[in-house]
Amino acid sequence: MATLRPPEDSSFTATLRAARELDGTDRLAPFRRHFHLPAGRAGRRIYLCGHSLGLQPRGVAPLLAEVLDDWRQLAVDAHFDATRPWVDYHRQVVDDLATLAGAQPSEVVAMNSLTVNLHLMIASFYRPEARRPAILLEAGAFPSDRYAVDSQIAWHGHDPKTARIEVAPRDGEGHLRTADIIARVEAERERLALVLLPGVQYLTGQALDIAPIAAVCRRHGIPIGLDLAHAIGNLPLRLHDWDVDFAIWCSYKYLNAGPGAVGGCFVHERHARAELPRLAGWWGHDPRSRFDMPDGFRPMVGAEGWQLSNPPILSLAPLLASLSLFRQAGIRQLHAKSCRLTGFLEALLHTWLANEVEIITPPERGCQLSLRLRGGRTRARRAFEALAEHDVVADWREPDTLRMAPVPLYTRFQDVYRAADALRRILRP
Ligand SMILES: Cc1ncc(COP(=O)(O)O)c(C=O)c1O
Repeated sequence: MATLRPPEDSSFTATLRAARELDGTDRLAPFRRHFHLPAGRAGRRIYLCGHSLGLQPRGVAPLLAEVLDDWRQLAVDAHFDATRPWVDYHRQVVDDLATLAGAQPSEVVAMNSLTVNLHLMIASFYRPEARRPAILLEAGAFPSDRYAVDSQIAWHGHDPKTARIEVAPRDGEGHLRTADIIARVEAERERLALVLLPGVQYLTGQALDIAPIAAVCRRHGIPIGLDLAHAIGNLPLRLHDWDVDFAIWCSYKYLNAGPGAVGGCFVHERHARAELPRLAGWWGHDPRSRFDMPDGFRPMVGAEGWQLSNPPILSLAPLLASLSLFRQAGIRQLHAKSCRLTGFLEALLHTWLANEVEIITPPERGCQLSLRLRGGRTRARRAFEALAEHDVVADWREPDTLRMAPVPLYTRFQDVYRAADALRRILRP
């Protein structure tokens, strides 16, 4: 196990009092009150699991009640006469999603779920040829991405065993190097029909430096897409400027939109009117003639042209509630707090547990820290379970990784202190 490297920011004091002082000067602290915090054995649990499922904003229930009321009282007329008419309901989230994605409003749409959107995007952007059948992924890609990619490769009559190319960290290293990804794209450019990378790697929490990679892909005419499951709402993004072709995300993690919430999709402006092949549905058809029920599909301009079905209003209402908090707080301010909060966690682990813990997350990250423990899987797994007994909610990823994410919208510095202190007491009783 590598020794714990010194924290980026060593200006923290490892006391509860110092943590409370940091809370006292935190201008984003009031946002915590906008969330329901899960109850624990003693008081509230310390929730470090927003990278898996974000907490419920208090604004969700009233918005859901509004939809249910409109449905009860107006029935079908609610499509046009509801407090927020259902026919355009999905458009209310567009501006805020665009801000989080670093995109123009016409480049984003809320629809489906992540893996469905990934399939829709691959259907449009993966145009393999006999000599160019390959898709480049990172070796640790989330299983759903691998399954989607393999099934698409096979769907086109190619062999995933040879056409899925993976780029991995170097031997003995835990993170991908940008230069290695670029070198791999260069080396495989004749065979590559698509590159798919994460914004933030789900296991290690590494944030990838997308712009230079996208530039190389563009130079060689290789479409590039991003899985932003762990990036959106966690880090400020600049999808438009990075010039990626597409991106997909889910909204139940950092976007706090609830289990199975409606996902999202970015399609770069340069494809807004392009005649790309796509899997079409009536909600992607030009709304001016959608209800004329015409025969020929005429796609809407922009990302909305990839919609299939009429939007899930009950799933959009929580997203709407949550996005208003992001709008008020600002993703840059949230990120600034996130750096401090996660830096504090790193500093505490370094001060107390330098010989016990390895942080596998590099400094290029959002709020998640992924840990391995000296003593390997069994000890780490036991520590994870013991944390739950201390009312600390972290999560576990096989084979040996403990993930903790102090989400800046609802986590306090004193929570981080208590969580690190609990781990200290578990590991060094
Ligand atoms: C990185 C990543 N990609 C894809 C998915 C799959 O998302 P969904 O079940 O919404 O399709 C997840 C789910 O946690 C994920 O973390």
